[in-house]
Amino acid sequence: MLKLCVLVSGGGTNLQAIIDRISDGTILNTEIIGVISNNRNAFALERARKHGIPAICVSPKDYENRELFYQALLETVDQIAPDFIVLAGFLVAIPTSMVKKYQRRMINIHPSLIPAFCGVGYYGLRVHEAVLARGVKITGATVHFVDEGTDTGEILMQKAVEVLAGDTPEVLQRRVMEEAEWKILPKIIAMVANGELEIGEKK
Ligand code: GAR
Repeated sequence: MLKLCVLVSGGGTNLQAIIDRISDGTILNTEIIGVISNNRNAFALERARKHGIPAICVSPKDYENRELFYQALLETVDQIAPDFIVLAGFLVAIPTSMVKKYQRRMINIHPSLIPAFCGVGYYGLRVHEAVLARGVKITGATVHFVDEGTDTGEILMQKAVEVLAGDTPEVLQRRVMEEAEWKILPKIIAMVANGELEIGEKK
């Protein structure tokens, strides 16, 4: 059984896509054993609780400084003791200590075709605003391993999505989610669960 911990900050539609694909048997031998959010009000936490998944908030607001918050975050993840960590709309930079500990055991979904529209400052709706401002005609989503940089880890899967005339950032975000994110994120998790994608440090 692949034990997953999913980190979220907002609505949690990607978390929902994982839950749904586990429920309908598209992802086999996998259990979400914990959901963590930095944001107490994240709807993603409610989604988790509704499905009986332990949902925990670790908010930077509850800690004196960043260092203590990061320490608490890592401790919480360690306590859950997952095989694999999924950043599903987790809008907090991951501390180096956590990257090192979970090397090639932590993936992120990013709403663009990396290396376009990624890095510091490119997250959520901002990515789609930048795509529309630049006028590109193809965008998409990327699943990648998390390394020390921002969106620089090894790319595992990408899917292209068309930008259409009249798109607003919100309309484009929704299309990228529906056509790309909610498909490739569960797909990669299924591959890990099936042993088709090797995780953990390279021997
Ligand atoms: C998703 O579009 C995800 O790709 C993006 O945040 C959104 C979260 O939505 N992540 C990033 O921008 C990471 N840099 P969700 O909470 O509904 O899954």
